[in-house]
Amino acid sequence: MKSAFLVLVYLAVTRGLLRIPLMRGKSARQLLEEKGLLEEYRRKFPYSPAAKFEQSEVPMTYDLDMTYYGVIGIGTPPQFFKVLFDTGSSDLWVPSISCTTSSCDDHPKFNSSASSTFQAGTKPFYISYTSGFAEGSTGYDTVKIGDLCVEHQLFGLTETEAVFMGSVPWDGILGMAFPGMTSDGGTTVFVNLWNQGKLPQNVFSMYLSSSVEGSVLVLGGTDPSYYTGGLKWIPLHQASNFWNILIQSITINGNTVACSASCEAIVDSGTAAIIGSSKDINNINGWLGAMSEQYDYASVSCSNIDLLPDIVFNINGHSFALPPSAYVMKFGSGCRTGFAPGSWILGEVFMRQFYTAFDVGNNMVGFAQAV
Ligand SMILES: *[C@@H]1O[C@H](CO)[C@@H](O)[C@H](O)[C@H]1NC(C)=O
Repeated sequence: MKSAFLVLVYLAVTRGLLRIPLMRGKSARQLLEEKGLLEEYRRKFPYSPAAKFEQSEVPMTYDLDMTYYGVIGIGTPPQFFKVLFDTGSSDLWVPSISCTTSSCDDHPKFNSSASSTFQAGTKPFYISYTSGFAEGSTGYDTVKIGDLCVEHQLFGLTETEAVFMGSVPWDGILGMAFPGMTSDGGTTVFVNLWNQGKLPQNVFSMYLSSSVEGSVLVLGGTDPSYYTGGLKWIPLHQASNFWNILIQSITINGNTVACSASCEAIVDSGTAAIIGSSKDINNINGWLGAMSEQYDYASVSCSNIDLLPDIVFNINGHSFALPPSAYVMKFGSGCRTGFAPGSWILGEVFMRQFYTAFDVGNNMVGFAQAV
């Protein structure tokens, strides 16, 4: 009886969830590295992973290492795009057929004349970031994610894009932070999905695999087959448009190495690394014996990675231990720690280790050990 009951509960809990497969492609870093252009790129656009959070303009991701993306359709019939599901921004945008910059060349472009449900918006679209901007027009159309459709979704159609977007595997961005941050004052895709009654729960979650395939965005709840040990819930620290939480401290072997007086961090699927104040990050990298580099992450020897310590994040009374297998990133050019300076962000390096649930209705983030 008991097990039959559990099976029924499991079915009830998982029914109605929509699982969107995410792919992990070559990052812009790998592509530039292969072309021998990475050094030049770094000189032109110094590393600034947190820049999107430091300006008053509507933020957009600017990070060479963002690699997870999924496919959505826009319009009737749908035109397909690979988008980065970014919990650090709120807008949806894709390139349009009016895009004139070369960075659009290798990406599909939205043709509004080919969609019977398209309606032009009244406002222009504008997003700024460190080395330039992306701009264009706005419009409304049906957005298809898996089997779900959002009607009358406001989105940006870019006409000018920054150079680096020519080197990323995704075509556009689908923002999953809160609506207060949209450039055009619109509602985000997720909020529209919920408002239009398409989801069983006002929650989405992500499993980021370290393999090319297997990552998933779950819309409408959490999927226990991707984690063990239960979710540990953390209330958002302050009302803001980001998924921001309070880290009480970061410790190595019981020694506090960062956030000694706590620090506020954003949980961001659109940032590759773990970002923190330079003093704290230098301290962590120092504990790891890593060498700081001018334009890049700190480098660490690829041998004996297993001998490095766990780095423990103490959040809301829970301890989340990040082993070296999670925080050391291997590139063609060597190994680097996934810690870089800026304002605090828990990015993909953290989210690969911990399945992350975003509870929109209750303003909470949940972490659980990923399988
Ligand atoms: C856009 O779609 C219209 C209608 O299907 C078509 O006539 C036109 O050639 C398309 N434009 C481009 C640039 O593909």
